[in-house]
Amino acid sequence: MNHRLESFCAAKGQHRKIAMLTAYDYPTARLLDEAGVDIVLVGDSLGMVVLGYPDTTWVTMADMVHHIRAVARGAGRAPVVGDLPIHSYDTPEQAVFNGRQFIDAGAHAVKLEGGADHAPQIRALTEAGIPVVGHIGLLPQSVREEGGYKVKGKTPEAVQALINDGLAVQEAGAIGVVVECVKHEAMRPITEALSIPTIGIAAGEDCDGQVLVVHDLVGAFPWFTPKFVQPLAQTGVEIREAAAQFVAHVHGAN
Ligand code: KIV
Repeated sequence: MNHRLESFCAAKGQHRKIAMLTAYDYPTARLLDEAGVDIVLVGDSLGMVVLGYPDTTWVTMADMVHHIRAVARGAGRAPVVGDLPIHSYDTPEQAVFNGRQFIDAGAHAVKLEGGADHAPQIRALTEAGIPVVGHIGLLPQSVREEGGYKVKGKTPEAVQALINDGLAVQEAGAIGVVVECVKHEAMRPITEALSIPTIGIAAGEDCDGQVLVVHDLVGAFPWFTPKFVQPLAQTGVEIREAAAQFVAHVHGAN
């Protein structure tokens, strides 16, 4: 495994929380790296916040590889995880073939969505020497089949199913698991059941780390902010204001 992942893998045992943010381009990756982010995710949220698609199901391998290359050039210290897009890991062989393209582009690990049903893909990637971060709970790539974004872990049976998925992902070799949009009370038993770190998004505080889409954190996509995010900057508003000032200046020069 690449030495950049060592600190990530040791964090849970050392009771250190993990801060993960997404990046899709060179300057953002470089800024996050300089800020001390523990791990950078080139998420397929790329589709919405950068490419203007309605959801992640439009993202292709070519899109991801292009942006992973840029992020890898910017992140000089932090490990980079590439999100395998929909249908790029339908079989274990496909997962390994496409995972290798991410590693060649500069990623240190890949992420894929799914629990026990995707254990064969995680095992195949791990055996091929490609570290994997799992993703359970709400799975954005399944949003069309699920008919929208819905909170998971609402019943004791649903919590147990999440624990089972987390354990399956862990046993298949994953080095960590993103847990998305889970009822906050469900997170403690999941985090306690797993020896690999749980990285939560919209899942409350009882996780080993947190991940956010960087555009949500810095207000760079001002037309939509998820309810669970409190932006710490408003860069979208600043860009619009700076552009408007420039326009006024240039038009005023007539
Ligand atoms: O695509 C993405 O950015 C993600 C995070 C929200 C975890 O999967």
